[in-house]
Amino acid sequence: MCGIVGYTGESLEAEEILLDALKRLEYRGYDSAGIALIDEGEGVVEVFKRAGSIEELKQGLPPVKSKTGISHTRWATHGVPNDVNAHPHTDCSGKIALVHNGIIENYKALKERLIAEGHQFSSDTDSEIIAHIVEENYHGNLLDAVMKTVEELKGSWAILVIHAEHPGEIVAARHESPLVLGKKFDKVFAASDPTALLKYTDQFIFMEDGQIAHLKDGTIALYDLKGKEVEPIWQRITWSVEDAEKGGFEHYMLKEIYEQPSTIHQCLQGWDEGALSELNIEGTRSITIVACGTSYHAGLVGKYVIETFAGLPVTVETASEYRYSSPKDFSSLHIFISQSGETADTLAALREAKRRGNETLAITNVMGSTITREAHHTLYLRAGPEIGVAATKTFTSQVVILYLLALYIGKRRGKLLSEEVEGTLREIKHLPRAVEAILSKEEEIRNLAEMIKEATSIFYIGRFVNYPSALEGALKMKEISYIHAEGYPAGELKHGPLALLDSSLPVVAILTDDHTYDKMLSNIGEVSARGSPVIAITEEGDREVVKYTEHVLYYPKVMPILSPVPVAIYTQLLAYWTARLRGCEIDKPRNLAKSVTVE
Ligand code: M6R
Repeated sequence: MCGIVGYTGESLEAEEILLDALKRLEYRGYDSAGIALIDEGEGVVEVFKRAGSIEELKQGLPPVKSKTGISHTRWATHGVPNDVNAHPHTDCSGKIALVHNGIIENYKALKERLIAEGHQFSSDTDSEIIAHIVEENYHGNLLDAVMKTVEELKGSWAILVIHAEHPGEIVAARHESPLVLGKKFDKVFAASDPTALLKYTDQFIFMEDGQIAHLKDGTIALYDLKGKEVEPIWQRITWSVEDAEKGGFEHYMLKEIYEQPSTIHQCLQGWDEGALSELNIEGTRSITIVACGTSYHAGLVGKYVIETFAGLPVTVETASEYRYSSPKDFSSLHIFISQSGETADTLAALREAKRRGNETLAITNVMGSTITREAHHTLYLRAGPEIGVAATKTFTSQVVILYLLALYIGKRRGKLLSEEVEGTLREIKHLPRAVEAILSKEEEIRNLAEMIKEATSIFYIGRFVNYPSALEGALKMKEISYIHAEGYPAGELKHGPLALLDSSLPVVAILTDDHTYDKMLSNIGEVSARGSPVIAITEEGDREVVKYTEHVLYYPKVMPILSPVPVAIYTQLLAYWTARLRGCEIDKPRNLAKSVTVE
């Protein structure tokens, strides 16, 4: 996830402060870094940026005496990680420098307009256009120029802007991307995260959406979109730097679970149909999804969803098995899902699929990763770096991308009408709110974790689109709590696993208000008749399930096929709290690596 820092103060130490503060955002992950400083003596903005680490950036950096500057770590979303795509970006005059977090949805249209007006661009980013629009709107007042600029933007942004003719000034704007301001004596700061600034101040203003801030000569003035000054709310933060890196959460996994309302939102905002324009959907008779672990489970959700929305048969294969399968005598669209884009088994399967003459589409979170260079087409999750070994936020983003892809394929194949696509999209857009509602129930989940923490084995059962939810719930539980856990299609219990059920083996049963509901209820009946404690995850309003168990976790009403998203939040939190109560090493479980680059 990108990181932003801005500083202005009396002393000429901007360079040192900006690099030091930026280093404190390294934990968020990044692929390039940069800094822009106003050199008052020369009356210019000096920009230094490059792909690679902050250390590498520092090595090529001359000492610049400056009291104002901005800095940035970039996690690529538009344009590969390289020197030119790194921030800060400048306008044509080179006097304006800007750093940006977020995604500008209408950047293509804005860029075309600016090019027609004679602007020249050096990067492939959506961010660079903002510097050029500020240039257009600048008539001597930087604050006014930025205010006018954000009126034209659609999407999300946290931006900082400086101008060579305005030493001692930074203009900051926020919309759906976090930005905090800080102050100590004559020094004022801005950052995407208070972590960056804890060494310098404990006094913060958390900017709200639509606000614009003017940092000038040691003061901060805050405005709303209409230009009306608003009273800032100062807050004191007493976190240690280490706490703050995890945003105050005990573990990265928990932080990443809590990020999901915004990562799902970002995934929706970043959906790019343009990436699929060359896809030969009309010519394909079937789809094959290939992946490992959690990504494989997302692929299984994708199977139900694509078959439902697009009417194409889908097979899902684990990557490590795919290469040993027999080639089919017809080609199909192959979708490879990999959070890291570097999983060796998935890459080997991708190469084999291409060798067999199939068209390939990658779904990944990491720009510039190997998978993106080798697949014919790529879709990005835009979930920001995931540090916890257990995949959480990237799973829900993978599932959301698969919903969007299924709708897209359904529409292109004439299986869905535009109204049907629009109606489902509206439902998908409610998912961040449903996730938020579940996150507020942590206490209930923790109590259930207390109940199961001594178990030696746990089963997860579900049907249809929540059969993969059962597999994923079990994977999360086993990898971080070290409790043996298995996921089953609920109908399979009576074909063997039922023999293991007794009061010592809890069963997590996932229900959805669809054609599988009644069958799931009778499976729960079978389980509770054997004395197993049942934890049911079901939709709000379900009055039947309480007849079988008192342990019920309710998720807000969503379209049944979308239920794997809210369900995943419950299973992630249940695994997390069980592991925590058992004193496990949550972010780095034993024997596991975040990215498995060996076959
Ligand atoms: O980076 P990938 O999505 O290709 O990784 C695949 C699996 O190794 C991964 O999903 C793994 O199962 C998760 N870390 C489990 O939480």
